[in-house]
Amino acid sequence: MHRNQSKPGSLIDPFGRRVEYVRLSVTDKCNLRCFYCLPEGFKGFEEPGHWLRFDEIERVVGAFAELGVRRVRITGGEPLVRKGLPHLVGRLADLPGVDDLSLSTNATLLARHAQSLQQAGITRINVSLDSLRPERFKEITGGRLAPVLEGLMAAKAAGFAPIKLNMLALRGINDDEFEAMVEFCLEHGFTLRFIETMPVGSTGRHASEHYLDLQVVKQRLAQRFELIPGVMPGGGPARYVRVRGTDLRIGFITPISQHFCETCNRVRLAVDGTLYLCLGQDHKYELRPLLRQGISDAGLKEAILEALTLKPERHEFKEHPGQVVRFMSMTGG
Ligand code: GTP
Ligand code: 5AD
Ligand code: SF4
Repeated sequence: MHRNQSKPGSLIDPFGRRVEYVRLSVTDKCNLRCFYCLPEGFKGFEEPGHWLRFDEIERVVGAFAELGVRRVRITGGEPLVRKGLPHLVGRLADLPGVDDLSLSTNATLLARHAQSLQQAGITRINVSLDSLRPERFKEITGGRLAPVLEGLMAAKAAGFAPIKLNMLALRGINDDEFEAMVEFCLEHGFTLRFIETMPVGSTGRHASEHYLDLQVVKQRLAQRFELIPGVMPGGGPARYVRVRGTDLRIGFITPISQHFCETCNRVRLAVDGTLYLCLGQDHKYELRPLLRQGISDAGLKEAILEALTLKPERHEFKEHPGQVVRFMSMTGG
């Protein structure tokens, strides 16, 4: 038996970390093919019959909320390719206890959906953007830059705050654009985060040849911009600085050079109802069979508590870079 079974705040893992953040992948599909994430021509997506339905997602997130989770981030794949997403958002926003409902997206479809998502209850969004040059953007993602920029402007107009840009720092690919991205974020009031590439899936492992240590990137930016200590609301692992004399915050997400597993606060629910306990490990717990066998709400919460006992201490990207074979699109980063 677990202690404090149904009381809020009882989601404590074997290493004493409190889980308060669920990353919810609503689809493993994506309309882009970022070379570090999904292979071109990939066909192995989850079959629709295995996708959790909205009512099932709502039950799982509701159970997490009763156990003390207050942050929910909707991810993919690309979450906006899942039909009816604003409807799901509305249902999640109504769950008692969920007070931070956010979205991570590639923004290609955002111009169309920004307003309805905002009205449904998403308050803040994070957007992947690795280049501001159309040809380079195409090389990295296989897609067009223009709709992404339109999506970003629509998000600004819809009133999302903050809007954070996620830029993978890739040596030899976009490392001449870091300063330009800082200027872009200054101009538009976006927050910028740099990310170290991780060896997740065969794609991620290949991309590791472009790995850049963000400590070096920070030193380089400090030559051009005056960086002072900064903070930024959010539930993720980024560490921030601010550019003096401006509101611009720059975050650094450093899973490789300075991992942050000791403060891990999250679990990931994949579209097929698999709960992944760590981005960098295979530890998982299947919730879909339980949901489809008619498990009670109390039983669901017990299952979640049991799953939490499987949460590993940390990723081992450096020690075992070949370990995670699933693609990033299954868990949404
Ligand atoms: P905020 O609440 O805004 O701080 O969000 P976030 O940074 O948690 O979310 P986002 O989806 O923007 O994540 C950005 C990237 O950070 C992901 O795509 C991953 O590359 C990385 N990341 C997020 N969570 C983890 C994690 O638990 N472990 C590792 N190693 N990387 C993570
Ligand atoms: N390493 C680090 N982050 C990755 N993402 C996808 N693949 C990787 C990888 N190999 C993250 C990026 C991207 C989001 C969709 O997932 O942050 O913006
Ligand atoms: Fe947590 Fe695993 Fe991410 Fe480390 S890699 S921060 S343990 S989810």
